[in-house]
Amino acid sequence: MTKYNKEFFQNKIILAPMVRMNTLPFRLLALDYGADIVYSEEIIDHKLLKNMLDTIDYIDTSDGSLIFRTCSREKNKIIFQIGTSDAERAAQAASIIENDVAGIDVNMGCPKHFSVSGGMGAALLSNISKASNIIQQIRNKVNVPITCKIRILENDQETINFCKVMKENGVSAIAVHGRTVKERPYHRNRNSVIANIAKTVTVPIIANGGSNTIETYEDIIKFKADTNCSSVMLARSAQNNPSVFRKSGKLPLDEVIKSFLKYAIHFDNCFPNTKYCIQSMLKELQNTPKGKLFLESQNLEEICDLWNLGEIYHQKENEFKSKGLHFQCDILF
Ligand code: FNR
Repeated sequence: MTKYNKEFFQNKIILAPMVRMNTLPFRLLALDYGADIVYSEEIIDHKLLKNMLDTIDYIDTSDGSLIFRTCSREKNKIIFQIGTSDAERAAQAASIIENDVAGIDVNMGCPKHFSVSGGMGAALLSNISKASNIIQQIRNKVNVPITCKIRILENDQETINFCKVMKENGVSAIAVHGRTVKERPYHRNRNSVIANIAKTVTVPIIANGGSNTIETYEDIIKFKADTNCSSVMLARSAQNNPSVFRKSGKLPLDEVIKSFLKYAIHFDNCFPNTKYCIQSMLKELQNTPKGKLFLESQNLEEICDLWNLGEIYHQKENEFKSKGLHFQCDILF
């Protein structure tokens, strides 16, 4: 029996998948600020197929590293994005994760050499039979909704055709980034092409690619109207300041980083990822005196001191110690 409800992808504001950025603390922060659905970063199917522990921490048992961490709070809101080039492997990976997530997305838009040369991401846009087979096999194996995230093709009719075929194969929604594989983030996003797809294809289309013009909540609503989509998905504007999802307006970045750090402490997020996410939010503010001290930090404790969170850090560290566990140890066993 399918858990999918038709409204799930309708009228939603969504955090787009972002490698390294979209770990649990950042996803929860986006939910706090009003995102309706959050995507995971892309996780390659191989990784999930390695001997897993039966928890909501998915661990690579060959080296003890954490592959994916989730929690009950986001269970009905997290879409897990898979990078794949093989239908059988993708279906197996999807079935491992399905009970802990609200849906599975297949990345069909990543233009990076690593993805495309391995037959994943945007390589699937030019191999419609493989893309179809991947969706069908996942569909046959899992009960949660399946989506795909694509870029537009050179030819509008081809993009519409691709979306129609994905719909026939059973996707519940399609996220469309309005740039072609060759185009870079500074190129104009083709909002009118997305609008045309939304008008023509009878599956919810999630508009993406609008961050160059999105600074505020009102800009999100404008992007939604310009693309004629019921849902929109943000990557870079959320990366800059995830409180952009707040209807009542953005919060100062210092406050946002403090909230992010509280989650990072609470969930024992690994230091390199915590530093990467804060660096991505700080951008040019890394050149300020505080930014420079931040760049020199070697561990979470030093970062917490900069945002006056030393006390919370030490409380958590003591909690771990009292249970005989190591806090801030990236390798889990
Ligand atoms: C991305 N993007 C991306 N897309 C995807 O399908 N899977 C992924 O893992 C990633 N990773 C990623 C990391 C970072 C840091 C950025 C900035 C982007 C692409 C992203 O989801 C989105 O399609 C584009 O950024 C365009 O949307 P915006 O930024 O204009 O909202």
